[in-house]
Amino acid sequence: MKKLTKAVFPVAGMGSRFLPATKASPKEMMPIVDKPLIQYAVEEAVAAGVTDLVFITGRSKRAIEDHFDKAYELETELEARGKDALLKIVRDTVPSGVNCIYIRQPEALGLGHAVLCAAPVVGDDPFAVLLADDLLDGAGSGPIMKQMVDVFDYHRCSVLGVMNVPREQTGSYGIVSTERDSGEVQRVTGIVEKPNPKDAPTTQAVVGRYILTGSIFEHLRRIEPGAGGELQLTDGIASLLREEAVLAHQFKGVRYDCGSKLGYLQATLELGLKHPEVGEAFAAYLSSRDLRAKPAPKAA
Ligand code: G1P
Repeated sequence: MKKLTKAVFPVAGMGSRFLPATKASPKEMMPIVDKPLIQYAVEEAVAAGVTDLVFITGRSKRAIEDHFDKAYELETELEARGKDALLKIVRDTVPSGVNCIYIRQPEALGLGHAVLCAAPVVGDDPFAVLLADDLLDGAGSGPIMKQMVDVFDYHRCSVLGVMNVPREQTGSYGIVSTERDSGEVQRVTGIVEKPNPKDAPTTQAVVGRYILTGSIFEHLRRIEPGAGGELQLTDGIASLLREEAVLAHQFKGVRYDCGSKLGYLQATLELGLKHPEVGEAFAAYLSSRDLRAKPAPKAA
């Protein structure tokens, strides 16, 4: 099996939970401190050895294409003003040696359908899928997709990034059953999309990181609409695992659900505190505030 060099970023979703911010601009372009969510996901993929970035886009997503393109006017302007540090930030947005490929998903028929739209570009090769709303910080253990590629390189089969969630939240995730109850890498025996807490077989949730073999596409072509009336990637994986090994990898790191307002605020706080430019001042500000108080005191 070939080395993993392709990653698919499904970015056609509406982002209705962040309206009105997402009325005219993509939710994936919302920044955590100063970097858009999609750039965190792209950097994670590139750190794992990915060179072909396949974006599955839809209407109102032009900003993503512009973000990963050369910005001639801006670069010329910054160069003329001698703003070298900013120029470097702008140029580094697109890591060198990568190709950006855009495929339009004409209708939002579900995550399984979005991934299937990548089939003509991915072919039979193994590939990664990264959902940008899930911001994963590997901290000391390195980027999460790199951790998963290491598992893939060893076992040569599909790998799902999983974490334990509270039982009352199973209805928000794809939930996996595994051969054993514990262990960092487990063989998946079943997967179900958004089960009710009382029906959920386990509390092991897939959190927006997948490595899939090219055979997933034939399964995605055959699935019927599932949870929420959508073509679910989870159902494609449930069909795949009847024919091939699929592993669940309990990754090391922290996950922020940036598809929700609370997760987005948590990510902003934690990454703000780590930010090289503002982290210290932000920490000083927070410790000067009585955090038990609700809104900030009104200015006099
Ligand atoms: C999607 C997947 C789900 C997965 C989740 C991770 O759901 O369908 O299986 O657990 O992402 O964030 P969504 O959050 O798009 O409804």
